[in-house]
Amino acid sequence: MNKVVLPSRGRYTITLQLAAVMCCVTACGGTPDPRQRETMMHQEASRQIGGRVHLTGAEQRLDAHLRKLKEQEMAAAQFPPAFHFFKARPLIHKSPIFSLLQRMPKGAALHIHSSSLVSVDWLVKNITYRPHCYICFTWGRSVRFVFSSRRPFPTWDCLYWQLLKTLRANMVDPTGFDYSLMQNLTLFTEDPDTTYPSQDAVWERFEMAFVAIAGLVTYAPVFKDFLYKGLEQLFHDNIMYLELRTGLSSTYELDGSIHDKAWSLRTYQEVTQQFVAEHPSFLGARLIISVHRLLSVSDVKAAVKEAIQMQKDFPEFVAGFDLVGREDRGRPLWFFREALSLPAELGVTLPYFFHAGETDHEGTEVDENILDALLFNTTRIGHGYALAHHPLAKELSRNGNVAVEVCPISNQVLKLVSDLRNHPAAVLMSEGHPMVVSSDDPSLFGTTGLSYDFYEVYVGIGGLRANLGTLKELAINSIRYSSLPSQLKERGLAMWQRTWDKFISENSYSNP
Ligand SMILES: *[C@@H]1O[C@H](CO)[C@@H](O)[C@H](O)[C@H]1NC(C)=O
Ligand SMILES: *[C@@H]1O[C@H](CO)[C@@H](O)[C@H](O)[C@H]1NC(C)=O
Ligand SMILES: *[C@@H]1O[C@H](CO)[C@@H](O)[C@H](O)[C@H]1NC(C)=O
Ligand SMILES: [Zn+2]
Repeated sequence: MNKVVLPSRGRYTITLQLAAVMCCVTACGGTPDPRQRETMMHQEASRQIGGRVHLTGAEQRLDAHLRKLKEQEMAAAQFPPAFHFFKARPLIHKSPIFSLLQRMPKGAALHIHSSSLVSVDWLVKNITYRPHCYICFTWGRSVRFVFSSRRPFPTWDCLYWQLLKTLRANMVDPTGFDYSLMQNLTLFTEDPDTTYPSQDAVWERFEMAFVAIAGLVTYAPVFKDFLYKGLEQLFHDNIMYLELRTGLSSTYELDGSIHDKAWSLRTYQEVTQQFVAEHPSFLGARLIISVHRLLSVSDVKAAVKEAIQMQKDFPEFVAGFDLVGREDRGRPLWFFREALSLPAELGVTLPYFFHAGETDHEGTEVDENILDALLFNTTRIGHGYALAHHPLAKELSRNGNVAVEVCPISNQVLKLVSDLRNHPAAVLMSEGHPMVVSSDDPSLFGTTGLSYDFYEVYVGIGGLRANLGTLKELAINSIRYSSLPSQLKERGLAMWQRTWDKFISENSYSNP
């Protein structure tokens, strides 16, 4: 078994060679020295993510195979990363690279939100078919669900609740109906450009889907199955560890009684422990408590205090705190400075995992979130879409090993970028910036696990330059930049290396 070799992050000593090249170009005249050219190419390539990762012979064979496949996909009439993911998905399903990426041990998923952890297919086909499930259709052409032992009372938005079972029994086309329910719970559509003409339009549907999902997954018995199913879907995608952002809402029972957040927290932990007991090659999960950035300062203060307490009560399970919701319409981090300074003032540590720079509005207050996140000592940066435009922030995050959680499909569906080859993470990748890949809201985007996002990063953002070393470093990064304590990181890396070696030996057959 070979050891995990982490590339060093020291300064580069290129200045001298570069000076020599320049001098030669001017002094010698004519064609530049091809050897110098090669040195330059090599030095530049070595800076990228994975550029200093050692590949074994078997890994080099697989790398060459993957490169050939990538060249073929780039030459094809339809290059998936150039298309909206909703259109690219059927193409990606046919890609042999994608099927390799599915089998590849990808390490950890560090940026996923709890409501969108499990595929809508399962939500509709399994959850909405359970007994006592009521549905209502709102004014805004959306749906609400609740499980109840008797017909729920009307609300301003929901005048009439119907038992789903009865409704379906009287339907001509229950399959079509189920499909429309799925449409309510995901953003997926055949024609995304017409359906979502603007960021506002897509975010409105996005927030609406979360509300619709909430009634299903906060029913206590479903809540447990949901988490278990979520872990199972990650496990099947060869992911071994999860850091889940969650608001920890209260849950309810059929008779309307309510369990508090502490119950949800305990249940998360119990279900995770059960899953790990049944899947010993899964390392576990931890939570990042997240609240909406539309809250008031005093609400966020209360949430920070609560998170501090939860971390005290569940130190191995609660990783830290984050603010969620659309940055462009929500309040910037600096607005919450009083609340976010509380842990430091109280002399306790509450690690932050801030979403920051999920915007294309350069120079706005929202754009300042990246520097503010670093100022508040964030452990990682969620998205960091705007990071490439912030030289100081980039330097600080690089030197401080503050990894960026890149979620390409999310950025594309939420309309920050259309052709993923133009994603700004391409710059970060070529510079070897600390980075991990994640899926943000897989069920809303019609994905599960991380393979789709890895595909976009490896084939689209990274281009032909991204190689097996890149994939290897990204997977290692996901453990290295996790919130796990160092001895668990070691264990995680060793577990990952074993599955990686197995993956390589099963896939590095020599190809014609
Ligand atoms: C629904 O999910 C549960 C738990 O995951 C499983 O036990 C059950 O068999 C599923 N039911 C259907 C109808 O798929
Ligand atoms: C949600 O489901 C309802 C009921 O089937 C349907 O009429 C409506 O068009 C769906 N909404 C969306 C956004 O798909
Ligand atoms: C961030 O870390 C620095 C250095 O450890 C510390 O002085 C500062 O108080 C921290 N800031 C916050 C807001 O926690
Ligand atoms: Zn997110």
